Amino acid sequence: MSEKIESLKAAFAEDLKNLDTSAADKVDAFRVKYLGKKGLVTDLLKQTSTLPVEERPAFGKMVNELKAFVAECIDKAIETAKAAALDKKLSEGNVDVTLPGDGIPAGSTHPLYDIREEIIDFFSQMGFEVDFGRDIETDWYNFEALNTPPDHPSRDMQDTFYLDEGVVLRSHTSGTQIHYMETHKPPFRMIAPGHVFRVDNDATHAPMFQQCEGLVVDENISFADLKGVLQVFMNKLFGEGVKTRFRPSFFPFTEPSAEMDVSCVFCGGEGCRRCKGTGWMEIGGCGSVDPNVFKNCGIDGEKYTGFAFGFGLDRIAMLRHAIPEINLLTSNDERFLKQF
Ligand code: DAH
Repeated sequence: MSEKIESLKAAFAEDLKNLDTSAADKVDAFRVKYLGKKGLVTDLLKQTSTLPVEERPAFGKMVNELKAFVAECIDKAIETAKAAALDKKLSEGNVDVTLPGDGIPAGSTHPLYDIREEIIDFFSQMGFEVDFGRDIETDWYNFEALNTPPDHPSRDMQDTFYLDEGVVLRSHTSGTQIHYMETHKPPFRMIAPGHVFRVDNDATHAPMFQQCEGLVVDENISFADLKGVLQVFMNKLFGEGVKTRFRPSFFPFTEPSAEMDVSCVFCGGEGCRRCKGTGWMEIGGCGSVDPNVFKNCGIDGEKYTGFAFGFGLDRIAMLRHAIPEINLLTSNDERFLKQF
C-alpha cells in the first residue's frame, strides 16, 4: 500500500510542475482533483478501512502527511494565482490607483456615555467603588430603607412606576446605597451610576434618565468633606472657575439635606435667560446620611457618619452642551449625535 502513496506523491509533484498558476480556475480544479470529496488523496484515505487493522495506523499517518503536503503546495499555488491575477489587472491598466478608497465611517461615543465615563474615572481615582445596582427595586430599597415610609409625603416628589405590589422601576439610584451598606463594612466610598424611571415627560424631564449616587461612610465624616468633594467634582465637570453653593433642602435619607447649585455655566454667574437671571443652576441633592438609614442597614450610627449625594447625568449633558430638550439624548437622531 505504501507504494500507492509514493506513486501518488510522485504523480502529484509532476502534475504540480505543469500547473498553470496564472489561472485561478485551473488551480481550483487542481485542488479538487487531489483534495475534493472524490479527490485522489481523499480516495486513498478512504482505503484505510479496507486494510487489516494492524496496518491502518501507519498507513493513515502516511496518507495524512501526504494530504498536508498537498494542501500546502496548493495553498501556495492559490497565492501565486491571486498575485498573478492582480498583476494582470494592474498591467492592463484597468485599475485606477488614484481613486479615493472607500471611507470607513467613524462612530463617536454618546455624550451621556462620555459623562458617565468621566464621573467613573474621577471618583475611581478618589478611591470610590462603582456599583451599578439594579433597575428593578422593591419598595424597601427604593423607599422604606431610605427613611421614606408608605405614607410619607416625600414619595410624591417622585412619581413612581409600579411593576407589582411593592416592586418598582427605581425612581432614583439612592437604593443602591442600601444594598451596598448591607453588604459592606465601613469605612467605604462608592458611587452608583444608572438609569432611573419616573412618570414625567416634558422638555427637561424624561420617563427614563440617568443618575449617579455617591456615598461615603467613615468615622468623623462631616458636611465639609461633602462640600469639598463636590466642589472638586464640579471643577472637573465644568472647569476651574465654577462656584458651588448649598441651599438647605429636604430629603428623607439625609439630615441635614441640601441642594447644590453651580454658578451658571452659560453666563458665569452674571445672570442670563438660561439661569433665569439668578446666576445659579441646580445640579443635585446631597446631605449627611440620616441615622435611620444607618439603622436600617445595620451600621452603627454612633460610631460612623457619612454623606450622600445624587445628581442627573442628562442634566449635566444638557448644561455642558446647551441641549434644549432632554429627549434629544435618547432619540438616537444621527443629525444630533453627529455633533459630538
Ligand atoms: N435621590 C434624590 C433624587 O433623586 C437625589 C439625592 C438627594 C440623593 C440627596 C442623595 C441625597 O443621596 O443625599 O432626587
